[in-house]
Amino acid sequence: MYKSKITGVGHYVPENIVTNDDLSKLMNTNDEWITERTGIKERRHRKNRNDSEETSAFLGFKASEMALKNANLTSKDIDYIVFATLSPDYFFPGNGILLQEMLGCDTIGALDVRNQCSGFVYAMGVANAFIKAGVYKNILVVGAEIHSFGLDFTDRGRGVSVIFGDGAGAVVLSATEDENTQGILSVNMHSEGKYAEELAVKFPGSKFGWADRLLTEPEALTPEDIYPVMNGNFVFKHAVTRFPESIIEALTKAGKTIEDLDLLIPHQANIRIAQYVQQLLHLPDEKVFINIQKYGNTTAASIPIALSEAKQEGKIKKGDLVMMTAFGAGFTWGSVLMNW
Ligand code: UT7
Repeated sequence: MYKSKITGVGHYVPENIVTNDDLSKLMNTNDEWITERTGIKERRHRKNRNDSEETSAFLGFKASEMALKNANLTSKDIDYIVFATLSPDYFFPGNGILLQEMLGCDTIGALDVRNQCSGFVYAMGVANAFIKAGVYKNILVVGAEIHSFGLDFTDRGRGVSVIFGDGAGAVVLSATEDENTQGILSVNMHSEGKYAEELAVKFPGSKFGWADRLLTEPEALTPEDIYPVMNGNFVFKHAVTRFPESIIEALTKAGKTIEDLDLLIPHQANIRIAQYVQQLLHLPDEKVFINIQKYGNTTAASIPIALSEAKQEGKIKKGDLVMMTAFGAGFTWGSVLMNW
């Protein structure tokens, strides 16, 4: 019987730092509001919004290189790719195949996952199932986003555009037949599609109608179609309910309790969401990893970036019980619980 465990982690973010003060020069916002409401101090944006080199696939490639090195493996050892992103280089094909080419992998399978902030948890769920079934031995699981190309940096977009940042994280998930307890213990994934339009980017999509309208009726395309729309308060309220539900579900399924948990790595959406969950579950500060102040919300990349930094900072030790939990557009949410 196979189990899966993380054998390598990595992350990569663009060099260009954008502070809250930088954003206040573009729109009517300020450091005080952003810090108080979200916990974010700065985020990364690729240097040039029109750049076609520093894409989400490229960021994923850089994070993957680090994860492979950390796992002591080469791209030839990888037998499947799962790539989570809401900001792929193209509408199609997806980023997984671009990564296969960039890394020089064999002609392995490459799957894209489109579950936004929950994308990495879903990607891990898929990879874990393949490994447990004995199908693949080393799967590269990646979360990467370039948000900065598609945000509305005017007053109209300030409720959304101050939150999101660019970045990527990756892990190598490997099969093990070890009898020891290391590895993924439980996974859960959920969705509630009736809230699809509470947080969405609607264009490009077939609901817009025939693409010909773009040429014949360009005014039909509104800012609400091309920029993300988010009912922030509504999303917040659902997030603080679903986070704890999913965490308890993952612990219960593995026969563990909240007291057993060593580290919670929440999707970095808003520091107030993490603090609310932390209080509700009576978790001390050292058991919740937060890095939103540096990167903002990097959607599918936020958990693997946090995981990689937590490991670099020595906050994860062998044998620790680690939980990754996310909530986001869809709505979708879920958790992965593992013994490190
Ligand atoms: O990761 C995927 C899931 N996403 C989330 O989990 C996000 C969840 N939601 C949130 O994090 C919060 O709802 C936000 C950070 C998006 C917004 O915070 P909020 O405390 O819910 O603020 P609000 O939307 O209720 O807006 C409060 C006020 C409004 O002004 P009025 O109507 O009270 O005069 C906004 O217009 O703050 C104003 N506002 C801003 N002011 C300065 C909105 N955005 C900004 C801004 N700077 N950037």
